[in-house]
Amino acid sequence: MSATARKTAPLPDDIRAMKGSTPIVSLTAYTTPMARMMDGVCDFALVGDSVGMVLHGMPSTLGVTMEMMIMHGQAVARGLTKTMLVIDMPFGSYEESPEQAFRNAARLMRETGAVAVKLEGGAHMADTIGFLVKRGVPVMAHIGLTPQSINTLGGYKVQGRDDQAEALKADARAVAEAGAFSVVLEKVPAKLADDITAEIAIPTIGIGASAGCDGQILVVDDMLGLFTAFKPKFVKRYGSLGEDGEAAIRAYADEVRARSFPAPEHTFADKAPGK
Ligand code: KIV
Repeated sequence: MSATARKTAPLPDDIRAMKGSTPIVSLTAYTTPMARMMDGVCDFALVGDSVGMVLHGMPSTLGVTMEMMIMHGQAVARGLTKTMLVIDMPFGSYEESPEQAFRNAARLMRETGAVAVKLEGGAHMADTIGFLVKRGVPVMAHIGLTPQSINTLGGYKVQGRDDQAEALKADARAVAEAGAFSVVLEKVPAKLADDITAEIAIPTIGIGASAGCDGQILVVDDMLGLFTAFKPKFVKRYGSLGEDGEAAIRAYADEVRARSFPAPEHTFADKAPGK
């Protein structure tokens, strides 16, 4: 069912059931107003750990904490009624052991109301994914370019080219078999994304992947033109809110300096009208 026809938010099983049929629409979200804009339009909203770079000016996602995720998760939850909430597990909150992952996933879900978590990693995270799913935590996996591993991946490079393709396919199979309800494919060649989408039984959510994926995700501030520090090739700007914002701030500053703001209509009389 498309998001616009829904009365309540979908659940992970509903997203899984969209495999091969209606394209799954998703964006990241970090604040209540942004969540309200996408409520009922997107199938799911992801509180991505990209929040660290996009809203907090961090150089990577590595410094993002559980507390930051919970604060932004709660803010997004307040803005959603018809769109499913998924939250990222931040770096260091799940890699150590399945038990550590469960403890932190449960905390993220309990304190934010998110119905699923996303974690980065393929075959090497399969045991953890299985452990979480068996204990009631729906998991969205994330493979390809996994930004929490930039220091071992050698930067934000395309993943899965040439002789890396088979390993990426194996990652996709492993997370699907472990019980993930969907998998994000980030910055992988389009043909490989199509092959994986055809091969595995769970939806693929592309970002820098292929229009043939079962769904798409973008960082909302990228697609609105609010985050302009850099623009990956896979980002399409659907708005220019950053430029609009700068122009508005300059206009305000000019008017304050010219004493033309506030104008009479923005000020109050001594007495209420009619008295
Ligand atoms: O943190 C994030 O925003 C993400 C998306 C880019 C998939 O993981």
